Amino acid sequence: MNANIDFDRIDLDLPAPEKEPDRQYYFIAKCRRLVEDFKRENGRAPAACVFNMGCQMNARDSEKLSGILEQTGYELTQSEDADFVIYNTCTVRENANLKVYGRLGVLKTKKQKNPRMRIALCGCMMQEPQVVEKIRKSYGFVDLIFGTHNIYKFAELLYACLCGGDMVVDIWKDTDRIVENLPVERKYFFKSGVNIMFGCNNFCSYCIVPYVRGRERSREPREILREIERLVDDGVAEVMLLGQNVNSYGRNLDEPVTFAQLLREVEKIPGLARIRFMTSHPKDLSDELIETIANSQKICPHIHLPLQSGSSRILKIMNRHYTKEQYLTLVEKLRAAVPDISLTTDIIVGFPGETEEDFEETLDVVRKARFDSAFTFIYSRRTGTPAASMEDQVPQDVVKDRFDRLLAEVQRIAKETSARFTGQVLPVLVEEINAQDSALVTGRLASNLLVHFPGDASLIGKIVDVELTECKGFYYLGNVR
Ligand code: SAH
Ligand code: SF4
Ligand code: F3S
Repeated sequence: MNANIDFDRIDLDLPAPEKEPDRQYYFIAKCRRLVEDFKRENGRAPAACVFNMGCQMNARDSEKLSGILEQTGYELTQSEDADFVIYNTCTVRENANLKVYGRLGVLKTKKQKNPRMRIALCGCMMQEPQVVEKIRKSYGFVDLIFGTHNIYKFAELLYACLCGGDMVVDIWKDTDRIVENLPVERKYFFKSGVNIMFGCNNFCSYCIVPYVRGRERSREPREILREIERLVDDGVAEVMLLGQNVNSYGRNLDEPVTFAQLLREVEKIPGLARIRFMTSHPKDLSDELIETIANSQKICPHIHLPLQSGSSRILKIMNRHYTKEQYLTLVEKLRAAVPDISLTTDIIVGFPGETEEDFEETLDVVRKARFDSAFTFIYSRRTGTPAASMEDQVPQDVVKDRFDRLLAEVQRIAKETSARFTGQVLPVLVEEINAQDSALVTGRLASNLLVHFPGDASLIGKIVDVELTECKGFYYLGNVR
């Protein structure tokens, strides 16, 4: 979805406007001139690679970066052998950071071969002052660094970076601003993420996100609805409403709205087939929301409901504001209201002070809740979070052993629960040609499970009824009916 702006008609002899998004349109127009010069000199358009390293929220931000690069005249590519490479980073766990430093080493060699190359870093990791310090000191070949709060300024920063000179660094501590109507380049034409809120106020004691994404801010419902309407006009069948805790959406708006109310408005948009959302914090999942899901034709019966730990004692230290029992009651309520609902979750193993008994409680919830799938993480100490300075960090070999046992249990159960649709005919939204076998296409059930079946590219973006003939553990094989 792109704002219909004629960038060539923007008067660049005037000073840059103060108002947003006009200011960014102005800088897009300025970048276009530089890209034109590049084309004349090199006989080709410059190539840009946007590399996403984070969660769905980051992925959506990457689409915004791509939208702006596309409007300035760059050709987007997946290859890092490009003239402009930008890493949209994540910092939720230590290994996310290590990955960035590793890849930067590789980019350095590429830049030595192509001195025109520009390298940019943005995203959550850049909100950490010690990271920026390290890059300034040891990775002087990076051209541009910015953070999560000023990503809407990308066109302006890109212009500064293309004009050459020293490393451009622009990081804000926080913001209360939301800039609408910037260009976006979607990865899939038939489905899209839609931010409904930014930031997080929960401060789970292990988590860096509130520090790098700032305080919770909800978008106005009319802006969200208008964006989805435009997306649907543009061919989108499925939206994923995005926020760190969608269940607290709208509380801080001048005219407060609940997440359930927002969903009921989204449901009314003609032409939209499927609504998904993530992430749901268990402490804020209301009865109103459960009822709304149960009565909906469009909301997919799938909830990602991060558990983190099954031990009430650990949950308290994690600052999650629910107990094991409350979590299990919620699961029961959801299953009673939406019998075939799929539940997925996130679990952390080895939080400081976690004992074998605590871990057994987690296994117990896994067995009772019977998740369709679970992301399991080894606890990662994040500097600046309360948990980082807690005593009793669990020894690595103990964590590894628990992690392996948890994973085995999660996978055993997921395999069993996933098979429950075998023999049924269910609608599948076709996403792509199967990567391994080009005679097959791959799509998703409303429950989010993958299905592979014979078909061709003409089915991509369509919802077709598929008979699920065989469950292969985490995916199905089927045939169109
Ligand atoms: N807002 C979402 C989660 C965002 S982060 C929620 O509340 O669920 C995604 C997942 O990363 C979390 O659910 C958690 O399981 C994991 N995570 C966050 N911080 C972590 C840390 N320090 N170590 C290991 N895993 C972590
Ligand atoms: Fe992190 Fe907790 Fe916020 Fe999720 S809800 S982003 S885990 S602080
Ligand atoms: Fe990572 Fe930032 Fe998302 S830290 S998980 S990319 S909000």
